[in-house]
Amino acid sequence: MDQNLLYYGDNLEVLKLHVKEDSVDLIYLDPPFKSNQKYNVLFTEQNGTRSKAQIKAFEDTWRWDEGSALAFRKIVETGGNVSKIMQAFYSFLGGCDMLAYLSMMAPRLLEMRRVLKQTGSIFLHCDPTASHYLKLLMDSIFKPENFKNEIIWHYRKWPSGKYAFQRNHDVILFYTKSESKERTFNQLYMDRALSTQKRFGSAKIISGYDETGRRIPSQTEERDSEGVRMDDVWDIGRVPPIKQLFPTQKPELLIERIIISSSKEGDLVLDPFCGCGTTIVTAQKLNRRWIGIDITALSITLIKNRLKDAFREEVPYKVIGEPVSLPDAEKLAREDPYQFQCWALGLVGARPVEQKKGADKGIDGRMYFHDEAKGAKTKQIIFSVKSGHTTVAQVRDLRGVLEREQAEIGILITLQPPTKPMKSEALEAGFYESPWGSRHPRLQILTIEELLAQKGVDLPVARVNVTFKKSDRVKENQVEYVTLPFE
Ligand SMILES: C[S@@+](CC[C@H](N)C(=O)[O-])C[C@H]1O[C@@H](n2cnc3c(N)ncnc32)[C@H](O)[C@@H]1O
Repeated sequence: MDQNLLYYGDNLEVLKLHVKEDSVDLIYLDPPFKSNQKYNVLFTEQNGTRSKAQIKAFEDTWRWDEGSALAFRKIVETGGNVSKIMQAFYSFLGGCDMLAYLSMMAPRLLEMRRVLKQTGSIFLHCDPTASHYLKLLMDSIFKPENFKNEIIWHYRKWPSGKYAFQRNHDVILFYTKSESKERTFNQLYMDRALSTQKRFGSAKIISGYDETGRRIPSQTEERDSEGVRMDDVWDIGRVPPIKQLFPTQKPELLIERIIISSSKEGDLVLDPFCGCGTTIVTAQKLNRRWIGIDITALSITLIKNRLKDAFREEVPYKVIGEPVSLPDAEKLAREDPYQFQCWALGLVGARPVEQKKGADKGIDGRMYFHDEAKGAKTKQIIFSVKSGHTTVAQVRDLRGVLEREQAEIGILITLQPPTKPMKSEALEAGFYESPWGSRHPRLQILTIEELLAQKGVDLPVARVNVTFKKSDRVKENQVEYVTLPFE
């Protein structure tokens, strides 16, 4: 596999159908977890009530229902150690969300073992709610003798809870596929403790590591000073909410340690629950090849934007599993209107607006642009996506939002073709005039069919392209010069 691949789909199917056995050097996985919610959520019997505030992307993934009961039976029927451990879990836990979680994880972990090279390593990120069960499950799949570390990722957060110590760590279980001597493990080093520094005088900050995992000595440091071998407790700050693209985004520094320690340049890194793509972006920065899989269109859209933002030059990769025809798109809209919306916004390179409460009412996505050579005035395009029946009221509403937001352009993306009254209502909104006089309809209606045929938003692209010398980043209908990484 020479090409980087981003799959939109369920990782169980993607792994089964598309990833060859013995082909991956390193796996990092960070499955969704309800750790933000009450500890007990995974243990309570299901009665159908559930927090509405749950983030869409994570909805219903680990729920004890028919699907997970079936998954449980299947995995038990597979036989072997994994079957034994699942039966043991059942006799202890009974049918609850935790068992659903483990029943979903088990077949996926088996697939991950299959695709991992004999020399490969796997890092499973979880939290103390499930780490003890997952360790047993990992033992049953990867064998206890291939267990390498339980890494504690320690961070700080706002104090909460009164009757126990604050929970300030996650657990990362590190296993290998075999005892192979060929396995990559680059020792990392860390700062000496201050007391040691005082005692031995010479040791200065051990500041970083090079691509092969060797530390980069600071200029004043003696080259032969080895520093302290990194241990299994990592103190790394969390991504501050204001900088997050995604609620459970992990810091690049954390993933960097994993990738540098357990792979070489050119190796293949897989993240089957890739979220907003921290592993992908970090692997790309470190010159590894990568495969990312996520089941939500929002993730795929965020990752595309993030890759664009992080690497000025093109990152060669292919997206697989997104709708490519109108019937595909209709199917997605029927099955999951929210995913459809995220996907449709991704087609024009817009960023989804997560909640449609308060200020953002009526807006599904946003995009920013600059078309003035001097000055930094940020201009705005707002998007509304409609997967159902199209009506003239939708155009009127968007026109209202356009005024309210003082946005330059509004785009209505529809699955069905617009009616005549819709078109004339859109025309009434007039034109946006760029500083050099080009005119672009203020209210544009784009159908999914048009977007799939590469039609894009009508914007002052060419001139921006010339003015800012970013022609290499501007491709056909994709508005690649949009620079503000918010939403
Ligand atoms: C905790 S997040 C990962 C965050 C990621 N480490 C980051 O830094 O952005 C888990 C992700 O797993 C995805 N997911 C859940 N079930 C999945 C499945 N069966 N197949 C693929 N992805 C899945 C969710 O959509 C979510 O984006």
